[in-house]
This record gives sequence, C-alpha cells and structure tokens, in this order.
Amino acid sequence: MSLCKGMKNMELAKLKDPLLAWYDKEKRILPWRKDPADPYGVWVSEIMLQQTRVETVKEYYKNFLSVLPDVAALAAADEALLMKLWQGLGYYSRVRNMAKGAKIIMEKYGGIFPRETEEIRSLPGIGDYTAGAIASIAFYKPEPAVDGNVERILSRAVGENRERKVFAEALKKIYPAEGDKRCSDLTQGLMELGATVCLPNGAPLCGKCPWKDLCFAAKHNRIGDFPAKKIKPARKIVKLNVFLMDDGSHIVLHQRPENGLLAGLWEFPNAEGEGDETSVRTYLESLGMTVHDLQKKSMRKHIFTHIEWHMTPWQIRVETATLPQGWIPVPYKDLQEIYALPTAFRKLFQQ
Ligand code: ADE
Repeated sequence: MSLCKGMKNMELAKLKDPLLAWYDKEKRILPWRKDPADPYGVWVSEIMLQQTRVETVKEYYKNFLSVLPDVAALAAADEALLMKLWQGLGYYSRVRNMAKGAKIIMEKYGGIFPRETEEIRSLPGIGDYTAGAIASIAFYKPEPAVDGNVERILSRAVGENRERKVFAEALKKIYPAEGDKRCSDLTQGLMELGATVCLPNGAPLCGKCPWKDLCFAAKHNRIGDFPAKKIKPARKIVKLNVFLMDDGSHIVLHQRPENGLLAGLWEFPNAEGEGDETSVRTYLESLGMTVHDLQKKSMRKHIFTHIEWHMTPWQIRVETATLPQGWIPVPYKDLQEIYALPTAFRKLFQQ
C-alpha cells in the first residue's frame, strides 16, 4: 500500500518545472556545487550543513577540502587534526563518523565512493536525507533528500503536514530517470527554495517564489499552519563552574572523557554546581592546588540540543606545579593553534 494514500492535495508533479526553471536562474554559487559533482565534496558539505548555516560552512568546507582533499586523506587523518578542522562547528561526532566512513570506503570499496544508495546509507552518520542528497547530487539518481527545509516548503505548497518519509516517497515519483542531471538540480532546487525564499521564521518571500500561484498556504493565507509546530521537550539545565586558570604564561586545559557530550575534546577544568568564592577556592585546594587570585565573571549560557549549560567562569591565578593529574598547563599560543576547544569554552576565554 502506498504511503501517499489519502493525500488528495499531494500534487507534486506540477511543482517540478517551475522549480527547476527558477533554480537555473537563481541558484547560489557555492563551493560544493561543481559539475560534475565530487561525491566526497558533496558528502563533506552535506554533513557540515546538517547543523550549520551555509555562510559559516563555506569557509570550513574550503579549509577542510584543502587539508583533506579526498577519501584517502580523510581516512588517514589523525583525531587531533579532525577536531581542529571541525573546531567551532559543534556536533563533533559528525566528523568522527565521516572518518570511520572514509576508512570503510578505503577497505571495502577500494577507495572509490560507493554509488548504490543502500551502500551510501550504510556508512556511519548517513541517514535517509544524506544518502538521498549524495545519490542524487553526485550520482544523478532519482533519490529525494527531505530535511526540515524541504518538509516545510512541501507542506506549505500542498497544504498537508506529513512525515518526511511520506514526502520523500511522493517526491520520488516525480524525479527524472537515473543518469539525468536534473535529479541533482531537483534535490538542490528544493533545498535552495527553503533556504532563500520559503523561509522558516517570519515572512517567507512569496513574491519571489516560483510556486506563488500554486501554493496552498499562500493562497489561503495559512503559512503559519505549515509545517505543524512540533512540541520540543524542555532542555535540561546544568550549572557549571568553569576554571580559567593561568600562571601568567600558561592556561590550564583538561581532556573530556571518550564518551558523551563533546567527547575527547579539550575544556577548561570545571565542576557542576553553583559555587561562591570560598567554595571554589576550597574545592581547588582540596585537589592539592595553590590558588592565588580568584575572580568571578559573568555567567554565560551555551545551548546544545538537549542540554543548556549555565557557565560561571572563574578567573584564577594558580601555581601550575600544583595541578592535579590530567590538568595540563598549555602556552597561550598553543591554545589557538593546537588544541581544539569547543565554542562553549572558547567564548569564555575570549570574554
Ligand atoms: N542545505 C543542505 N544541503 C544544502 C546544499 N547542498 N546546498 C545548500 N543548502 C543546503
């Protein structure tokens, strides 16, 4: 039975030609939009773009590809280099998964990026969306890629709130045959419309939309109803005292555990809770440290998907000879050049 049963408004076919004509004229020049497309480059760009804005990704993408230009280079890269190239993008498991995927491509596919959608889908960190994007953009396969943007524009156009996989199945029917470059243009045109015209918050730019005479939500003045609002669970709030410790020429870092949030990255030593000057001093002294000046700075928030850190920085002058095991004094310049410090901590240092 088709998943599209009952979708009486699901007339996606009429959307295709206006979209492709619009995409030909209006598409942005982006570093990963090459003809012919390089599957490795498409993969890197799609993984970066999953949680990060196009403007930010552009520079990271160029840098990543200049240092690691192909699957073989990614497979051979060490962890510290990967973390440095990804520093500031967040969600570091993305790049770790890509490195695992690159090793699989080297071992199982002789270093050649696999062409079959199921093979692509089986690589670590690749779900339906990314597999569809790589298959259609790099290999011209009739495979849609429905992310939140595509879900939004289609739900508005047809006036139906449906799951992504339902839209994907309906879209698949209107894709050109395998080998037709328009498979790539259709995938990217849908993304492009969501990114530049049919915007998520505030007013979409309906006057510029190739679907303005076809769109259900625009015609019925019901943009706000599509897509349906999803109720998000509240984020857990965690209070952290963060110790910005230095001895005048070194700053103290600690490496996070191998698993969990920001796994394996460097951080400023920290402790959960809401301390005052006495309790912070007592805590550090209980670890055997000699603490001199200690100054509280203003609280900063950092928001992850499921957790919110409320971070109170403490600027502390210490004797680095008295640091506990695993707390490492690092020359200031190495902090910039060598250690990958996630944004949550880096912004405290800049402050
Ligand atoms: N967002 C996700 N993938 C994209 C792409 N290939 N081009 C532009 N924006 C995107």
